[in-house]
Amino acid sequence: MLIEWDEKYDTGIKVIDSQHRRLFMLTNQLHESIMDGKSYDTLDKIFQNLIDYTIKHFSDEERLLLIYDYPQYKEHKKGHSDLTKEMRELFIQFKTGALPAASLKVKKFLLTWIIDHILNSDMRYTKYIDIDEIDSKFTDMLLDRII
Ligand SMILES: [Fe+2]
Repeated sequence: MLIEWDEKYDTGIKVIDSQHRRLFMLTNQLHESIMDGKSYDTLDKIFQNLIDYTIKHFSDEERLLLIYDYPQYKEHKKGHSDLTKEMRELFIQFKTGALPAASLKVKKFLLTWIIDHILNSDMRYTKYIDIDEIDSKFTDMLLDRII
């Protein structure tokens, strides 16, 4: 396993934590498939799943931050688009054969992106969110949409 879930990644916001756990799972799945030398088609599908789910997560997160008038909303959104761009570029390099999936660059990205996203970016907004309210009001609605 490349990255293991730890309670230090818990934001306390149920829907966000559940999406983060899924992102850990998808990241590990991609890494394992690369290490196992899975076929191009399999890697292509898993990589695409990771990108799709990351975009979905970022858009849900941005909705929550808007609801709570997060003061650093713009910066956070910019961080999301930079990360999505980096992920897409790696994917294109992989698809065009410019970058082997088993390269150090891919491994380093997979190892750091979600941890960096949670610890250096998401933890900053947690104090602006009313956790009890968000759980009762929005979790079911968001979970319905994501699962
Ligand atoms: Fe997040």
